[in-house]
Amino acid sequence: MIDFAIVEHPLASAYLTTLRDKNTKDRSFKSTLDKLSYLLASFAYSNLRTKKINIKTPLEATKGEAIDDEVVIIPILRAGLGLQNGFLNIYPDAMVSHVGIYRNEATLEPVKYYFKFPKLKNKKTAKIYMIDPMIATGGSSIAALNLLKDRGIKEVTLVSILTAPEGLDSLKKHFPDKSFNVKVYTIAIDRKLNTFGYILPGLGDAGDRYFGT
Ligand code: PRP
Ligand code: URA
Repeated sequence: MIDFAIVEHPLASAYLTTLRDKNTKDRSFKSTLDKLSYLLASFAYSNLRTKKINIKTPLEATKGEAIDDEVVIIPILRAGLGLQNGFLNIYPDAMVSHVGIYRNEATLEPVKYYFKFPKLKNKKTAKIYMIDPMIATGGSSIAALNLLKDRGIKEVTLVSILTAPEGLDSLKKHFPDKSFNVKVYTIAIDRKLNTFGYILPGLGDAGDRYFGT
């Protein structure tokens, strides 16, 4: 089942505008996506569980909290790498699993070329964060989510920057039941896809702009 949430934050809106602007050059595109990744990570990580721990401040003993989850970040290559820093830097104990998928430019069908997933202590309780700036037709995210579903994962947080209505509808159609739950975070749902499968108004090709290709 798909549960959808818009990330509402003034900085998210401002950074997104910088990313959309065609006059934003590669270097600034990279640093803006990087800054946004910290903001998105703080929203997405709000479902992490903590456990009570005993610590001592310089003055006395007190209780505190520590993260009590196995965490896996999954960037969808390539553009997902642009969101990795925030997720990994604010929680460096996270494992990173990569999924390699690109869209065939003619058919828009996802082409899988790489997947490496860690051995988890408990796949029912592990917290999985899949990151990809763009959900256009939804084909790439659906293919990546199916890889996790096939491995017995029950719950995933999917974090994006822009989503097309077509992609969101397709995600809902592919994952209708409660046996596999996906929480989607995005900053904006744009108008529609153009005939080449690009999001309008969008920000162009996220991977090409991030990597300068
Ligand atoms: C982009 C983007 C998503 C995908 C979204 O990747 O990063 O993975 O397109 O489109 P979809 O929802 O229609 O599948 P791309 O295929 O350009 O590969 P890249 O990241 O390697 O450039
Ligand atoms: N992938 C992108 O990078 N941009 C789009 O608009 C659609 C898919």
